[in-house]
Amino acid sequence: MTKRTLLFFIFHFSFLILFAQTISITTDHTQLVLQVNSQKRLCQTYLGERLSGQTDLSGLSMPQAGLSSSCIRGLEAYPVMGTEDYYEPTFEIRHADGNPTSVLKYQQHSQQGDLTSIVLRDEVYPVEVTLYYKVFPKEDIIQQWAEIRHEEKGKVYLGRYASSMLYFEAPNYYLNEFASDWAKEMQMLDQELKFGKKVVDSRLGTRANLMAQPFFEVGLGGPVRENEGTVLMGTLGWTGNFRFTFEVDNQHVLRVVSGINHDASSYLLRKNDVFRTADFFFTLSQNGLGEGSRRFQRWMMNHQLHKAKDDRMTLLNNWENTYFDFNEEKLVALFGEAKDLGVDLFLLDDGWFGNKYPRKDDHAGLGDWQVTKDKLPQGVPYLVKKAKENGVAFGIWIEPEMVNPKSELAEKHPDWLIQLPSRDTYYFRNQMVLDLCNPKVQDFVFGVVDDLMQENPEIKFMKWDCNSPITNIYSPYLKENQGNLYVDYVRGLYKVLDRVQEKYPDLYMMMCSGGGGRSDVVGLRYFTEFWCSDNTDPIERLFIQWGYSHFMPAKAMCAHVTEWNRRASIKFRVDVAFQGKLGFDIGLKGLSNDDRQYCREAIKEYKRLKEVVWSPNLYRLVSPYEGQHCVVQRVDDSKSKSVVFAYDIHPRYGETILPTRLMGLDAEAKYRVKEICLMPGKQSWLPCNDKVYTGDYLMKVGIKVTSTNDLASHIIEVVKE
Ligand code: GLA
Repeated sequence: MTKRTLLFFIFHFSFLILFAQTISITTDHTQLVLQVNSQKRLCQTYLGERLSGQTDLSGLSMPQAGLSSSCIRGLEAYPVMGTEDYYEPTFEIRHADGNPTSVLKYQQHSQQGDLTSIVLRDEVYPVEVTLYYKVFPKEDIIQQWAEIRHEEKGKVYLGRYASSMLYFEAPNYYLNEFASDWAKEMQMLDQELKFGKKVVDSRLGTRANLMAQPFFEVGLGGPVRENEGTVLMGTLGWTGNFRFTFEVDNQHVLRVVSGINHDASSYLLRKNDVFRTADFFFTLSQNGLGEGSRRFQRWMMNHQLHKAKDDRMTLLNNWENTYFDFNEEKLVALFGEAKDLGVDLFLLDDGWFGNKYPRKDDHAGLGDWQVTKDKLPQGVPYLVKKAKENGVAFGIWIEPEMVNPKSELAEKHPDWLIQLPSRDTYYFRNQMVLDLCNPKVQDFVFGVVDDLMQENPEIKFMKWDCNSPITNIYSPYLKENQGNLYVDYVRGLYKVLDRVQEKYPDLYMMMCSGGGGRSDVVGLRYFTEFWCSDNTDPIERLFIQWGYSHFMPAKAMCAHVTEWNRRASIKFRVDVAFQGKLGFDIGLKGLSNDDRQYCREAIKEYKRLKEVVWSPNLYRLVSPYEGQHCVVQRVDDSKSKSVVFAYDIHPRYGETILPTRLMGLDAEAKYRVKEICLMPGKQSWLPCNDKVYTGDYLMKVGIKVTSTNDLASHIIEVVKE
């Protein structure tokens, strides 16, 4: 060996020792392995089922073989626009001198407890990106985000700033997305992913999830199934524009990029400011969607949902009962009805505010949060007092980010409104969005809550609505930095919500957006619950709640009994709402005595069983997507109590009814099965009623809980003997 060859060898060998770093990130069942290659680039070499401690991680590589340069080079954990990878990147930057690339090289990493951070740096420009991976081992959830910083003097723009890039190798890929519209939230749609891209995104700004929801599921090796197969389930925690890109490349590798939507959002980042991307959360289940859903629900209950361990209040809402047409007398009568029903709270909806432009309908008044004097002359304090006298707590509706042009606020502060100069304004539901990028507007929005609470410290609940997307995208406050609008809006909203939470930690709040137009998991760090949909037709709700249950805990899913679809009995409507956070939005006077009595008894049963109903141990047994029935089951952690909800929609004539096999029970134990929530004077006709079975029998043989009846429902309690 010549001296020169020896030196070459030593140089390269030491380089490898220096940079052949392997970083392993694990939960109880999942493992992500990253490796620094010889060019100091950070690549994903494995993502899958947790490997045994004996496995040599340094030998892993992904994909196994390949011809294209990007694959030979490796699959970069945070690929940058404009370099060797030809596919959808995670990061794009325009330096002050106009150079549109960065090459990010590994610098160092640290692993402390559940958090891994990896610092990458451009060696030519002073730009640093730190990737974060936080694990929730028991819940098998991984959280990913990045922080971006630079020290350049001129203007630096971020063109893309995703939170995560994940790579998969499987024979085929099937996406399950959750399509949406007003009154049609979380409709499951599946499709095979072939070569090229599929994008699921939102560009609506505020009512961001109106048309697409920030959740997805990918079956790796086959379509997603409930209890079998490998499935990736992911969601972006961001109360604004999101984007998921699923790209199958020329090596049949699936690339999943998740983050804030960068469309129309080229972000001006100032020197030394830290740009924190949104949080991406995912789980990789080897046993289908059911297991993934239980993990997400458990994680929400243990780590994410605001006041997750606290109780929730059943309520009576007046929206569908009175709409805008109410006065003090009507409301006080409704407090009495709430008391009679046995709910905990009365929620006063839209229409209580505005004087110069009173809120008689949805054309005026938004922004003027003073009580309408001629409608409610004694103000909110009187209503709070009267509710209390009737033994119910009081809650109130607000929509503080929005404004009607017909309002004193719009007249006084035209510069607070998001609107395009020198263009016609397009109004969604006759309203516009306030510019939450502006700190003065943030103060105003906080003030809406603060003023109400200062005047009425006994308000227990607020429904925070948000009916319009951002329609005329221009922030007077940001001036020439319009690319920052969509991102800074959400940050402004979080600043306000942080202040609300800090000052009023006991306040329960519902996140609402013309139904489920806002329904992300970071929003629920501030809100105790969310309104799944304005559609409360119980049949539609079976589908909507089925969809949300893939990620969201029952405790957070507001489900109200209303007049929608009166073909369905009150029992059917209540039994559907019983699955979530139960409420009523209905005129009780129109109900028969039996129906009223049913509601009263059901509320009592709900209060008795709510801990089981809200348990994250959800088993979706019969899908409404596959036939005319729907059965779901909840089991408590100790497997001593379970509740089964069974619904028949419109069964075909002569259909054979099969037993439904329960899940999640203790096979060895004996359980008594009992139908509860029966109409006054009615007996259960279910063959299993009041019988004792082993858990083994219930899970292997099953019980008949569905029927050939139209719109029938059963709630069944299963209790360990
Ligand atoms: C939205 C909500 C409804 C109701 C109305 C009031 O549409 O989703 O529940 O509060 O606003 O205007």
